[in-house]
Amino acid sequence: MIHNDTIDKQLAHRSIRAFKDQSLTKEELTTLYQVASHTSTSNFHQQFSIIHVTDPKVREKIRQISNQDYVGANGDLLIFIVDLYRNQQIRKQMGNDDGRLHTMDVFMEAVEDTTLAVQNVLVAAESMGLGGVILGSIKNDPAQLIKVLDLPKMTMPWLGLQVGHPDQEPQLKPRLPLDLVAFEDHYPKDFKLDQFKDYDSHVTQYYDLRDTNKRIDSFTNQINGPKLNDQMSKRDDINEVLFNQGLAMG
Ligand SMILES: Cc1cc2nc3c(=O)[nH]c(=O)nc-3n(C[C@H](O)[C@H](O)[C@H](O)COP(=O)(O)O)c2cc1C
Repeated sequence: MIHNDTIDKQLAHRSIRAFKDQSLTKEELTTLYQVASHTSTSNFHQQFSIIHVTDPKVREKIRQISNQDYVGANGDLLIFIVDLYRNQQIRKQMGNDDGRLHTMDVFMEAVEDTTLAVQNVLVAAESMGLGGVILGSIKNDPAQLIKVLDLPKMTMPWLGLQVGHPDQEPQLKPRLPLDLVAFEDHYPKDFKLDQFKDYDSHVTQYYDLRDTNKRIDSFTNQINGPKLNDQMSKRDDINEVLFNQGLAMG
């Protein structure tokens, strides 16, 4: 196993959900924006944008949507937007139509760009001694979030990142053993529950600081649990919201 500063920081990654009452400096923010903008980008289309949410009322609304008390609390809240609007404007102002901008393929490109940028920013933040947590929960009510952020069609708020000076030291969260995730030449289709036994016991030793210091359930129980069971929620309306935004239409 090779070790260097970058790899050691990546291997030590923990999501941070409690932050000191100290905002990022302008220099820190600019650095994170620069890192985001230099992330690899599909076809060089550069289809994401970032909104730094500083207005306490908007932060409160996003916290309500997320239903997680650390969202928009201490630290800085960045919302990463899947953004096809900017390129639509460029084509329009150059006298062209939208071409393939409404396809699933181009939407997925933008999702890829946006998601990679989020991770790149988190790695950079961690290298600066900051911490953060990626927030899919901002999409608990995607239609409402679009309203709150006053976003135009051809955009979609995709992930949040709450980032700041850590005020907690979570344990390292154990991951699946490599023989269950990394394969040589072919994909094994014969996973047996038994193979997850040791990993399950590691996971049940782990404290999750998200919910007042409680131990979390085994991995297989989580996979077999409520988050993946059938349930009606606004998150399941995402197809409709994307369609209304003019995205991923076919
Ligand atoms: C796409 C994505 C969305 C996530 N959304 C949330 C979220 O809404 N709230 C939260 O507390 N953590 C969120 N997380 C963080 C994960 O819960 C966390 O990465 C995972 O439990 C592993 O823990 P670790 O990051 O500390 O290793 C998200 C992570 C990813 C990659």
